[in-house]
Amino acid sequence: MDLLEKIKTIKQEIKDFNAPDNDQLESFRLKFISRKGIMSNLFDEFKRIPNNHKKAVGQALNDLKNDAQTRFQELASSLKSQEGSSKSSGIDLSLPPVQNTLGTVHPLTSVKLQIIEIFERIGFNVSEGPEIEDDWHNFTALNFPHNHPAREMQDTFFIEKPSKADDKSDDIALRTHTSSVQVRVMEQTDPPIRTLSPGRVFRNEAISARAHCIFHQVEGLYVDENVSFADLKQTLYYFAREMFGKDTKVRFRPSYFPFTEPSAELDITCLICHGEGCPICKYSGWVEIGGAGMVDPNVLSNCNIDPEKYTGFAFGMGIERITMLKYQIKDIRLFTENDIRFLKQFTSLY
Ligand code: DAH
Repeated sequence: MDLLEKIKTIKQEIKDFNAPDNDQLESFRLKFISRKGIMSNLFDEFKRIPNNHKKAVGQALNDLKNDAQTRFQELASSLKSQEGSSKSSGIDLSLPPVQNTLGTVHPLTSVKLQIIEIFERIGFNVSEGPEIEDDWHNFTALNFPHNHPAREMQDTFFIEKPSKADDKSDDIALRTHTSSVQVRVMEQTDPPIRTLSPGRVFRNEAISARAHCIFHQVEGLYVDENVSFADLKQTLYYFAREMFGKDTKVRFRPSYFPFTEPSAELDITCLICHGEGCPICKYSGWVEIGGAGMVDPNVLSNCNIDPEKYTGFAFGMGIERITMLKYQIKDIRLFTENDIRFLKQFTSLY
């Protein structure tokens, strides 16, 4: 074969050469570039050809040498970029994607939001207050006389208790109820007031299936001219029907709270047996969901609202209690245990 033919074949070979790995790249270098490779043979042959062919063949040889260099650079850089990309991701792109599991709203949050939404429809706004509360807002402004046994009804976690028997004004405690927010709102707002105050409350109680030392309440307050007990009853009837279904009945039982007069405890028909009687309602057909009443005139004046001009109603309900009744949850501790098998059952709630 004459030398030009040979060069042409080798040129093609260089063009077609692929180097999927470093070994192949090295063989390319040894074969086409190194001193001991194909090139030195060609240059040896070149010396022996007649002078009149030297110019053309020499040109072709130089081209070939350049081609080999360029191809070597190409192969080396493509190998490098392949290595780089697989190293940086380290991912098998053919694997199916990992399922993205979203968390869900906690059932207590969901019920709180449902309650807010129901009351917002009839003009209530939402207000909040601190969980660490002073004696005035948790007790005294709410008409709890100093040393009155009603204070002991709510087993309080005190943070500071420097008080003597007849002066408790410096006491600081974890709030025992959201009624403290009533006081804060009335102190800061002129009537008409229609507000709902959901929040966490604390009582020094033994934890059991039915009671916890940390739980949630929602407080309602309506103060305006001519607010009556009939308004309170209609508002709570409306709430019970919206929350638990249109056949739900509501019952008010006379009761006592220092901050309301008259006061009532609020029952609804048992959601399990619909009034027939079952273990949940202790065969009475009724279950308690909270307390309510007309705001005591003393409380209004404590908050600088004229009791001659304004009247109001208030109510307080336990959010755990409502959630347990609505979703038939039998143990209050489930709310704080964070067992995913429990929480997952509420994925459809908002
Ligand atoms: N604060 C009361 C409690 O924790 C509940 C309550 C009763 C709130 C009557 C009220 C009310 O606003 O009027 O037991």
